[in-house]
Amino acid sequence: MDLIPAPRVAAPREGATPYVFGPRPTLSAGPGTEATARWLRREIGAATGWDLPDTPGARGDVRLAIDPVVAEDLGPEGYRLTVDGSGVDLAGGGAAGLFWGAQTLRQLLGADAYRRAPLPGRTAWSLLPTEISDAPRFGWRGMLLDVARHFMPKDGVLRYIDLLVAHKLNVLHLHLTDDQGWRFESLRHPRLTEVGAWRARSRWGHRASPLWNETPHGGFYTRDDLREIVAYAAERHVRVVPEIDLPGHSQAAIAAYPELGNVDVVDTAALEVWDDWGVNENVLAPTEAVLRFYEGVFEELLELFPVEVSPFVHVGGDECPKAQWKASPAAQERIRELGVGDEDGLQSWFIRHFDRWLAERGRRLIGWDEILEGGLARGAAVSSWRGYAGGIAAAEAGHDVVMCPEQQVYLDHRQADGADEPVPIGYVRSLEDVYRFEPVPPKLDARAAAHVLGAQANVWTEVMENQSRVDYQVFPRLAAFAETVWSHLPEPESRDYAGFEARMTSHYARLDALGVEYRPPGGPLPWQRRPGVLGRPKEGEPPIV
Ligand code: ACM
Repeated sequence: MDLIPAPRVAAPREGATPYVFGPRPTLSAGPGTEATARWLRREIGAATGWDLPDTPGARGDVRLAIDPVVAEDLGPEGYRLTVDGSGVDLAGGGAAGLFWGAQTLRQLLGADAYRRAPLPGRTAWSLLPTEISDAPRFGWRGMLLDVARHFMPKDGVLRYIDLLVAHKLNVLHLHLTDDQGWRFESLRHPRLTEVGAWRARSRWGHRASPLWNETPHGGFYTRDDLREIVAYAAERHVRVVPEIDLPGHSQAAIAAYPELGNVDVVDTAALEVWDDWGVNENVLAPTEAVLRFYEGVFEELLELFPVEVSPFVHVGGDECPKAQWKASPAAQERIRELGVGDEDGLQSWFIRHFDRWLAERGRRLIGWDEILEGGLARGAAVSSWRGYAGGIAAAEAGHDVVMCPEQQVYLDHRQADGADEPVPIGYVRSLEDVYRFEPVPPKLDARAAAHVLGAQANVWTEVMENQSRVDYQVFPRLAAFAETVWSHLPEPESRDYAGFEARMTSHYARLDALGVEYRPPGGPLPWQRRPGVLGRPKEGEPPIV
């Protein structure tokens, strides 16, 4: 069946004859199955030409139900899919499980079920009799999309939501702000997008590259764009987690509102949205006015991301250089006034403020593992990116954790060693390496391991200037990642990578039908290369200065 991610149990019925759909199949949609019925009509209907009319009181070719027995056996995200001589029974433990089952049904129908119109002359669709029981290993199966370094227009984000759900992934972490761009419309602070969403040019390649792309770059999502993205995702059981990064990674905001920066040590009025990559010294000033400004921003954000869709709000907290706070008499005075000891104390004062502020509004803060350094409120969660260590410390201290160690699941890193890899960054992380990623480190005891909500693959876009480049870096590795968070795989070294690779043959055909510009197994196609555009050295090579 070549399902990806692999289901928990799948038993083909040997010798039984396939179920052949007639020209006008029908659907029986039980209570609570409406959204999946809509999705099937829209997606499978487009690919097959079927209308899938409802058949109240009769047994349709495809029967959808929410089933308490499935809920009890497999949980709300679990499903049972049975194909026999009478058609397809799809039962979800909850609406989400039913929806994931519909993704499996689409895979069973074959690659053409991923097209947007039926191929001329294609009328016969059949399924082999089978019985599948399936449920995910983790509740947080995510991908981070950095839309700050390179903006991805709204259509691209909606397309990525479709690509996530085709792999049964259910979290889209949107990195909405950074030094290089602010991508979220604020009514209260309009210059955040009037100024902060645009930069004059971009470094072409890694920061060591001498090349520049002189085309201005930018864009932002309007409030209605974000409402649409959130609703589109929610209908597909995907949670969108917004990130506003602070107190570092803030030059775009400071360029828009110079008073947000450390005005006693930098001429912040002269700053522009950053056109380079790397860690930036221009960080927020530790003032009450800055807190009020960002509270306003978060208030607007919470309105667009309702709690039932996204209880978590990401506040960044990574890579905040302390040089300006060290040099600034005003920041030093704040350290004394607040009694926080030093510059690290200021950083945790920022995070703890929003930790409390979000908790008071019924939300949960999540931040990069640097936020552990100042101590956190109980409900706060951690994205462990600098390896597993932060995640281990957080889980052992009773905090929930999302594992996204850069050494394993940063998809900006190169996929192979060849000189043809476009703008190679960091470690070589092949499809097989990602397949052997394990979200729960073995040293965690059961109590701490239960705090690992799941994992996410992070897609930082400094060297991905458009959707084609994002596709190349993300696929096929996201398919392997999906299996590490959905399927119940053995220990990394015992995983059947050859079997996964064999299933990938069918999956490449699905990705082709979806129009995904993945990295072919044989290496980049000529137009996927970026000859002469410098990347970052590999481990063991001398640093580029
Ligand atoms: C990060 O990669 N700075 C979270």
